[in-house]
Amino acid sequence: MRSDNSPPRRKSPLRDTNDELTAALSRKVVGQTSAVSSIVPYLQMHRAGLAPEGRPVGVFLLLGPTGTGKTRTVEALAEVVHGSQKSMLKVDCGEFQMEHEVAKLIGAPPGYLGHRETQPMLTQQKINAAASERCDLSLILFDEIEKAAPSMTRLLLGILDKAQLRLGDNNIVNFERTMIFLTSNLGAKAMQKEINPSFGFEGMIQRERADVAHKLERIGLAAVRRRFAPEFVNRIDRVVTYKPLTSDDLSRILDQLLVDVQRLIDNRLGLRGFGIDVTARGRRWLLKKGASDEYGARELKRTIHRHLIQPLAARVAGGGIPPGSVVRVEPREDRLLLIPEAA
Ligand SMILES: Nc1ncnc2c1ncn2[C@@H]1O[C@H](COP(=O)(O)OP(=O)(O)OP(=O)(O)O)[C@@H](O)[C@H]1O
Ligand SMILES: [Mg+2]
Repeated sequence: MRSDNSPPRRKSPLRDTNDELTAALSRKVVGQTSAVSSIVPYLQMHRAGLAPEGRPVGVFLLLGPTGTGKTRTVEALAEVVHGSQKSMLKVDCGEFQMEHEVAKLIGAPPGYLGHRETQPMLTQQKINAAASERCDLSLILFDEIEKAAPSMTRLLLGILDKAQLRLGDNNIVNFERTMIFLTSNLGAKAMQKEINPSFGFEGMIQRERADVAHKLERIGLAAVRRRFAPEFVNRIDRVVTYKPLTSDDLSRILDQLLVDVQRLIDNRLGLRGFGIDVTARGRRWLLKKGASDEYGARELKRTIHRHLIQPLAARVAGGGIPPGSVVRVEPREDRLLLIPEAA
């Protein structure tokens, strides 16, 4: 992993080969190979200047159980192409469930009440601001599209079809240099039932897992076809179904999350900071407590929060961790012990 003070990369990530991009994304998005391999060719098309004109570079519908990496995929892509996971524009469709709320997206027409006050969310400026010096591609995430009001779905249709959106003030926003990600929980309940309730996804053998992954895909697509008109579904380039995470996946995600915890301590506490060393037994304890077929890695994240970050914060607040020490993290029955040791 690159530390913050390592030398800058010599070449732009967009000059990387398909394989390098795939490897970089796969390191960040664990266990979802079909998501990664669906997205990379579109990125390459844009890089080569061969993306078709008059439409977005790529339109992806991300389906599947909660906490399996749908949103993380877009964040990881932003890290790879722009150097920051925040370099994207996220539209929470849950905020646009009522017809009148759609004005927040495109602004009210001149003369209408609120015209001056409503700053549209999808202006050209905001879309361009989601790109970076490294790469002129803007990543746009429409989260939970099944919650959007019908008029928002119609607006989306125009964006997907012609890469254009007409704002309330008649200005036209161009989406040709965007990659659009739609996420949805459609079919997620039925998918959960498909995953063997007594053994979970983890308990299946390899072949069964592949079968189930296919079934989940069919369930997801059927749910999407029931909810959205064919012209909408036809404008999606790739539908990607995320699969439940295995314990190997979760173990790799745990490594990432612990690196994040250390980074948080370094960034926030500076000279008052300390190291953390979660022992093998500590890791196993966290993985066991944080395993969940229902909530995916979200439960692991919650477990780390509750059993590591919060107790650490309490100790720091009480002055119980000497700066520069290393805190060994060991399980003891139903909790983790934090044992500061001189480095
Ligand atoms: N495949 C994965 N690879 C790496 N980290 C993951 C993965 N899946 C989940 N995570 C971790 O769990 C967190 C939650 O995952 P994410 O936000 O991507 O879930 P989601 O699939 O979008 O779920 P939802 O349907 O609830 O929005 C992420 O921030 C990340 O830390
Ligand atoms: Mg999400």
